[in-house]
Parts: sequence; structure tokens; C-alpha cells
Amino acid sequence: MKHCISIADMTRDEVELVLERAASFQGISDREIKKVPALRGRTILTLFYEASTRTRSSFELAATRLSADTVSFAASGSSVEKGESLKDTVLTLAAHSPDAIVVRAPWAGTPDLITQWTDAAIVNAGDGKREHPTQALLDLFTMRQQLGADLEGRSVWIVGDVAHSRVARSLIRILVLTGVHVTVCGPPTLIPHDIGALGCDVTFDMSGIADADVVYTLRLQHERMTAAGLLPSLGEYAARYQINHARLSPNQVVMHPGPVNRGVEMSGEVVDDPQAVITMQVKAGVVVRMAVLYELLAGARAGSPSTPIEMAA
Ligand code: NCD
Repeated sequence: MKHCISIADMTRDEVELVLERAASFQGISDREIKKVPALRGRTILTLFYEASTRTRSSFELAATRLSADTVSFAASGSSVEKGESLKDTVLTLAAHSPDAIVVRAPWAGTPDLITQWTDAAIVNAGDGKREHPTQALLDLFTMRQQLGADLEGRSVWIVGDVAHSRVARSLIRILVLTGVHVTVCGPPTLIPHDIGALGCDVTFDMSGIADADVVYTLRLQHERMTAAGLLPSLGEYAARYQINHARLSPNQVVMHPGPVNRGVEMSGEVVDDPQAVITMQVKAGVVVRMAVLYELLAGARAGSPSTPIEMAA
């Protein structure tokens, strides 16, 4: 792997390698000293043009646990506010010779553009509504923790604002790639008419949700809604599509990428119920992002994930 930009670029073997490597990193997070020297002397830059809580903190933690040096850049408070372009910002930061750049931006295709301006490995931490590949990797990792390694033939329902969701696009791709049956469900105005081309079923009706092994809920992403009137009201949306105890059965696994708008796409009771594994997703985010950074920066000389990491370093 040279970059991690889209699940569409990954083979099933690459997905398996990253998840195996992530599993091998789990022990590090449980130690008292949560650090290995695997990426010592490497520099990882995080470049965030959009808000982030989970993704950014887990990338920084992942880099730190591998002993890499990190430089964080947030658009607010930087020269972007003085009119500096994406290209000039990247060229400026690339002068520090980072080994990897983790980028989140509101514009689809930003990570691909950046590959033209630097030799660093590029990791897409979310580009507009296109892709968020490390979220999909950590979600698959979490599903396997809950349901076992073999998810072939399992059913995942993705419910909510699919139209504005990069999480959904990456998640559908990775689940279809690994043989999971995917159904997307939401109001017709929030389901893209061509989403079925990714290999999922589409429904606007929640009545079949009992079939799902995993119910994956999406936030209404108002910040990306350019058209007006996509929903009659939040109350109407909640009445038809909210994930709450009346709609769930107790053995279903409930997931959400965060941030949650309690009482809108998911009831507060479900968020707080152990059946919702939202904090486990966050925890998985650190080891999966460690694995992605490791594969990009050291993978070629690392051997298989069963090679002890201290030796590989
Ligand atoms: C998502 C994102 O930013 O795409 N969050 C995340 O990365 N965990 C989803 C969202 O903002 O609703």
C-alpha cells in the first residue's frame, strides 16, 4: 500500500492484512507503557480542514504509540484564514519532509490532489461525502469483534443520511468486498438514486430491520446539505427512522461513527445501552489507524503481522 485514500483501491488481502496487524497491536493498548519503537524517527502530519474529535485524536494517538513525531495542522488559526490555498499550504508543510500526511477536507478528491505535491504517503481521514476508509476498516474490525471473524452472509443495515455520508460509501464498499449483505435505508431524499451500484440493497421502509445482525446509524449531516427541504422536520424523521428500543431486538449490534445527535437518528437510551458499541468503535480506531500507518511506512520491510513488532522495527 502506497496511500490509503479509498476502499475502492484496496484488495481483500490488503484489508485482511491491515485488520490482522491491528489485532496484533491490541496488546500494546493494554500495557502500562503503550508505546513501541516501530515508527521512531518518522514524521506524521495531520491536516484537518474540518471539525473532528474521534478521527483526529485517534490518528495522533496511533502515531504516538508507534513513536512517530507528529505535527498537527488545523485550518482555523492557520494561514488558510489569510487566504492561503490548499496547494501552497501543502507545499509549505511538505518542506518539513513528512513521511505521511493524514488529511480531512470538505472537498472530494483532496487526498488524490495532494499526492501530486508531496512524496509522503497520504491517508484520507474523510474527503467531502466521498470516502472515509479508516472508519470503514475500524467498523469492520468492530463487527468482527462482536460477531466473529467470518461475516460472510451476515446482514448489515445502514440507516439514515446516506446521501451526505462518506462513512456509508466506504462502509458499503468494504462490507461488499468481504461478503457481507448490505441494506441501506432512509428517506428517499437522503438515499442517492445510484447507491445500489455499490452492491447494496435499498429500502425506504424500516419494517425489515429485524433481519439485520448489525444496525449502523448515520447522523443527518446538515453541514453538507446544499438543497433545502430534504426533510419535513427532525420530528418527522425521528418518527420514521430513529433507532430506538421499539425498533430493535436485543441481539442486534448497534453502531454509529459519531458524533451522535441523541433523540434524532438514535434515542439516548440506545446510545447508553451496552448493545450500542460506539465506544468500542472509538477504541478500535486507534489500533486500526496504527496498522494503516505501519503498513504505509514500514509494511514492506515488516514481514507478516505475526512478526513481533519490536523486532520488525
Ligand atoms: C463522520 C465523518 O466525519 O464523516 N465522523 C467520524 O469520522 N467519526 C460522520 C459524521 O460526521 O457524521
